[in-house]
Amino acid sequence: MKNILVTGGAGFIGANFVHYMLNNYPDYKIVVIDKLTYAGNMDNLKEVADNPRYAFYQGDIADRARVEEIFDAENIDTVVNFAAESHVDRSILTPDAFIMTDVVGTYVLLEVGRQRGIERFHQVSTDEVYGTIDEGSFKEGDPLEPNSPYSAAKAGGELQVRAYNETYGMDTVVSRGSNTFGPYQYPEKVMPLFITNAIDDLPLPLYGDGKQVRDWLYVEDHASGIAHILHHGESGGIYNLGGGNERYNIDVTHQMLEHLDKPRSLITPVEDRAGHDRRYSLDCSNLHAIGWKPAYEFESALEKTVKWYVDNEWWWRPIKSGEFKDFYERQYAERLKNAGK
Ligand code: NAD
Ligand code: DAU
Repeated sequence: MKNILVTGGAGFIGANFVHYMLNNYPDYKIVVIDKLTYAGNMDNLKEVADNPRYAFYQGDIADRARVEEIFDAENIDTVVNFAAESHVDRSILTPDAFIMTDVVGTYVLLEVGRQRGIERFHQVSTDEVYGTIDEGSFKEGDPLEPNSPYSAAKAGGELQVRAYNETYGMDTVVSRGSNTFGPYQYPEKVMPLFITNAIDDLPLPLYGDGKQVRDWLYVEDHASGIAHILHHGESGGIYNLGGGNERYNIDVTHQMLEHLDKPRSLITPVEDRAGHDRRYSLDCSNLHAIGWKPAYEFESALEKTVKWYVDNEWWWRPIKSGEFKDFYERQYAERLKNAGK
């Protein structure tokens, strides 16, 4: 049996990955460590709470003693590191936690994993480490030119992983995923923010001209891609993991409003994000060559996602009435005021 430590398993992609692994790999035990920051939510793991092949530990990946305790208690042989501060706008407001978790936390996991002689370490990275690209698509060997405190911290964590592979011969793989969407995404990210705001007839604060391009990946495809790389990636390998669905933000916004039958007048152009990357685009031929491709088609997955938020107000309403409110005020109050809303 593999004993897989999934860090950040109470977050959006981590929780979807836990569901995916428990459903598809009946011999594995899935052990979650999560600090339960504002983004961690035990409701995301409610469905698996009674599964005997699952265990949950609250803890910080940067807390070495806690990490060692969990490795030993659960005989961990594999790590999949999702735990991170993940929101670009928050990294612009307050970068500190990004360094502590995305850089130092990754280092602690690597160090404990190295000492315990684990079989494989999978680092969940992001297409944002490359920076922005006007034309063509990024390949894995391209230089890293991260532009936000978030993406710079992710690049820092990823480079530690590379060093542990080169220096200590640790078996590591890295996935660089693109913009992910689906159920259980904290409503600070553009899709759940705009869907839930539109449900309540609130303005949708669109940054700049809305002509930024993101490559959208359905969350179950992100989970299956990570599982595929974990099993079939070569040691030291880095794999772009994109959905192949490049869309302008404004177009995706129009589609979400259509599914909700809400007017375009809710769209409110506001002051742009500082250092906003214009376009992300991934060449995923290396991952396709080892046998993975996405299963979901963008338009139907988007419709399904909108429906999930419509049907699951129990999940997002409590979030939007809590800590989120302070963040929303800091991030959007001035912008919306300047836009006359
Ligand atoms: P999220 O913010 O929804 O979840 C992050 C989780 O990590 C939360 O449960 C949080 O409590 C936990 N966490 C934060 N700091 C921690 C710490 N110090 N110790 C333990 N747990 C901690 O993030 P997400 O969108 O699910 O992203 C997961 C991973 O995927 C991140 O590494 C992110 O960089 C990467 N990624 C995200 C996307 C995306 O579009 N969301 C795309 C590519 C890559
Ligand atoms: O590309 C992968 C990355 O995707 C991940 O590494 C990050 O963890 C994840 O947060 C996401 O980053 P983005 O910055 O692309 O996602 P976000 O949902 O914040 O924004 C998507 C696009 O929408 C971006 O161009 C900014 C724009 N946007 C976002 C918000 C929150 C708006 O126009 N208005 C908004 O209010």
